Amino acid sequence: MDALLIHGGNPLAGEVRISGAKNAALPILTASLLSAEPLRLGNVPHLKDISTMLALLGHMGERVTLDDQNHVTLCGESIPHKEAPYEMVKTMRAAILVLGPTLARFGEARVSLPGGCAIGSRPVDLHVKGLQAMGADIQIEHGYIHARCKRLHGARIVMDMVTVTGTENLMMAAALAEGTTILENAAREPEVVDLARCLIAMGARIEGAGTDIITIHGVDTLHGAEYSVMADRIETGTFLVAAAMTGGRVRTTHAQPDTLDAVMSKLRDAGAKVEVGSDWIEIESDGKLQAVDVRTAPHPAFPTDMQAQFMAMNTIAAGAASVTETIFENRFMHVQELRRMGANIEVSGHTALVRGVPRLDGAIVMATDLRASACLVLAGLVAAGETTIERIYHLDRGYERIEEKLTQLGARIKRVH
Ligand code: EPZ
Repeated sequence: MDALLIHGGNPLAGEVRISGAKNAALPILTASLLSAEPLRLGNVPHLKDISTMLALLGHMGERVTLDDQNHVTLCGESIPHKEAPYEMVKTMRAAILVLGPTLARFGEARVSLPGGCAIGSRPVDLHVKGLQAMGADIQIEHGYIHARCKRLHGARIVMDMVTVTGTENLMMAAALAEGTTILENAAREPEVVDLARCLIAMGARIEGAGTDIITIHGVDTLHGAEYSVMADRIETGTFLVAAAMTGGRVRTTHAQPDTLDAVMSKLRDAGAKVEVGSDWIEIESDGKLQAVDVRTAPHPAFPTDMQAQFMAMNTIAAGAASVTETIFENRFMHVQELRRMGANIEVSGHTALVRGVPRLDGAIVMATDLRASACLVLAGLVAAGETTIERIYHLDRGYERIEEKLTQLGARIKRVH
């Protein structure tokens, strides 16, 4: 099992190239199921979750070709296996995203219910309810969702909660449905907009992506397309927080500043200097930060995927601040590990009160989920002495070569087996 070894204390400086967004690439990969023609994608990040999704699509019958460093072509001409088996879904919940497109194009789909995960139960009831509203007959038995429908029809669907992959699943299903579908209380995340742009390139008729009302006029078929995945805003935010904490000056390139307003505003509140260009964000900090209150909520508010990283930042900032998690019921597992490094954090319900301490101490800590692992890397970068982070397979799911990118910026970090 790999681990990361970090010696804290080095300021970060230089440029880091941001990879394609995991949470945009995953739904866009499944969009290839909607057409018999090839979908050629650029800027696809090399991540565990992406390889898992490609393996699943290959299992279903897609022809997958990696034609150079960052391009992948998928051809869904024939999909004999219209199913996502448990052993593939259990390691990656985003596999639920094959449900909508497979059902819409072939009239049937069999997808394992994703189990819960470390950060919460994460049901998919809203995905199912939306497809039923579009005419699907859905049976849930033996841990699988069996969905059937001659042809889905348009519907007006008001989502009880804002769900990112729920919105994405239903948007893809509606693209081939008969008639018009209106998704109300839809997720506004940039990754939803990126998927909509790709679907439109394939011939879909979609209006309102990025707002909370998305209208999809179904068409009979979708054609192939070429599309390039957006930059990963959470990877960008993670590097910006790293530089704010260690002190120094870092420019994230191939980024998309317009997807990070809430995060950049909080970094400025903390005392860092943040400048933006068309495709870059530069941060400068002396490492002496003010603690900032954070409350997660759906986009465009502060993203839950940046909560753990800001908690790490608050552990060494001046003053005290509250971190409130409103999206997931159990996304504070990094608190225990940060405490082992000397952080002063009290949790009551969905709010953690963080009091800044002069410095953290290196320790052996354990990653529990993707963003918690990132938070521990950030803590290790500023802690005195050596930090060992175990179970970093969680980290590899969402960050491409993080130790190489951090080393380039001057961090003392290496992967040990
Ligand atoms: C997406 O997960 C992201 N994953 C998550 O990123 C992200 O944290 C999350 O959105 C919130 O922004 C991908 O895009 C692949 P939700 P998703 O459905 O779609 C409840 C990361 O670190 N809910 O928006 O699964 C759910 O339990 C990952 O990259 C239902 O109750 O999240 C949660 O409390 C972690 N019923 C809330 O809604 C449903 O049918 C938001 O979940 C669906 C969701």
